[in-house]
Amino acid sequence: MGIRIAVLASGRGSNLVAIMHSIAEGKIDGKIAVVLSDKEEAKALEHAKNAGIAAYHVNPKAYDTKEAYEKELLRIIGEADCQLICLAGYMRILSPYFISQAHCPVMNIHPALLPAFPGLHGQRQALEYGAKVAGCTVHFVDEGMDSGAIILQKVVPVLDNDTEDTLSARILEQEHKAYSEAIQLFSQGRLEVCGRIVKVKGE
Ligand code: GAR
Repeated sequence: MGIRIAVLASGRGSNLVAIMHSIAEGKIDGKIAVVLSDKEEAKALEHAKNAGIAAYHVNPKAYDTKEAYEKELLRIIGEADCQLICLAGYMRILSPYFISQAHCPVMNIHPALLPAFPGLHGQRQALEYGAKVAGCTVHFVDEGMDSGAIILQKVVPVLDNDTEDTLSARILEQEHKAYSEAIQLFSQGRLEVCGRIVKVKGE
């Protein structure tokens, strides 16, 4: 049966789909209980609905304050009885209020090797900086931006003829693997967090 997962997504939803596939293939002991998006047109909502998963657009503009908006997200997540919140291309910064009030850990996937290149367009930043390797990071979310404890990272080469698109595609392939692996480690209770350091039990 495993853990119940809430996924927050703003767009395309390929990481959501990868997680759904991993669950279907038995690579994650868990279930996506609910998908939430700040964008009505997010493909992620469509993917979830097509798979029979509860999926809601929660419009930030409909709330007077960020806290009121986030309170509604937390209410839905609480009702769905989730033990893990996964940000999968969720393009808003969660406030300290959300992080402190969430009853379960929050994970994020970022398309760069943190702490290098946080924020938007991690792939473009790596390319423009001239980095020779790039990759992705799955981390717990804390109150900073892309600053939480690192769970796992995957590395890809940056090639001389890479464009933002080709590099992003190479990284995305690894994102899909990394996120499922991290969620499964969490689901199995194998992540031991000590301050910034996350150790994987049994490795
Ligand atoms: C992914 O590349 C993810 O790492 C990135 O947005 C994309 C979402 O794609 N997230 C961030 O940049 C967060 N700072 P998806 O909607 O296909 O999963």
